[in-house]
Amino acid sequence: MRLDGRTALVTGAATGIGRATALQFAQAGAAVVLNHLGRAALAHELVDQITQAGGRAWALEADVTNASAVAALVAQIAALDVSIDILVNNAGIIQEKPFLDTTEDDWDRMLGADLKSVFLLARAVLPQMVARGSGVVINIASDLGIVGRAGFAPYCAAKAGVIGLTKSLALEFAPHIRVNAIAPGPVATAMLSPESMSEATRALELDIPQRRFADPCEIAATALFLASDLSRFYTGQVLGPNGGSVMP
Ligand SMILES: NC(=O)c1ccc[n+]([C@@H]2O[C@H](COP(=O)([O-])OP(=O)(O)OC[C@H]3O[C@@H](n4cnc5c(N)ncnc54)[C@H](O)[C@@H]3O)[C@@H](O)[C@H]2O)c1
Repeated sequence: MRLDGRTALVTGAATGIGRATALQFAQAGAAVVLNHLGRAALAHELVDQITQAGGRAWALEADVTNASAVAALVAQIAALDVSIDILVNNAGIIQEKPFLDTTEDDWDRMLGADLKSVFLLARAVLPQMVARGSGVVINIASDLGIVGRAGFAPYCAAKAGVIGLTKSLALEFAPHIRVNAIAPGPVATAMLSPESMSEATRALELDIPQRRFADPCEIAATALFLASDLSRFYTGQVLGPNGGSVMP
């Protein structure tokens, strides 16, 4: 699963699944743009790790919920004299809150980070893929976007939206551009830490056939497959590295 000669943009790449994905892509030969928000030290540490191993990587800060920041990010990448062959929409946030306490601000913040960001990045990057006649988009959804979860309505709605957006873009940009989603089960990142989630929910997350959280590198491996030519007949699909949490 080599990506030599290709450039990937991974959003939210300083931590967790995005970080593991950027690293695996670089190890597979891709040049990697690591987008981050307020995580400069972590992002630059990964850039150093990749460049010291002989790869090419850049860290660029941008709030992917903001259209002008996304346009500026894409312009900065163009100025690096690389074109984006692979877009991984990974950035996201989560919030546990009873639905009846959910404010309009909560809704806008969650939908902004988890769904609008995918729209903004796809709209900004697809024109160059169309012009070249090739490209791969990978959207990180969630198993919760398929089954739902009490206390996480905006997150689940946004992730279900990511799946619908993925299928629509796959249809609209076929045959030469492939658009797929990954709907991971529970992954051991900050998102599932006790700071972000109640113990009761963490216990629920562990109540799956494999009885463990995934390592981020296990989700990155699915992204690497979808980015590579080995998955060339996949488009509009939702792959589920989830330890058996959901069997659609
Ligand atoms: N951890 C899980 O169990 C799990 C399960 C299914 C799906 N996911 C999804 O995986 C993706 C990555 O999450 P993770 O688990 O690695 O957690 P994480 O918190 O480590 O990663 C999310 C990253 O997104 C970045 N980010 C958030 N808002 C941003 C913005 N506006 N602009 C730019 N960057 C922004 C954060 O700074 C962070 O680095 C998310 O979309 C998440 O919903 C996670």
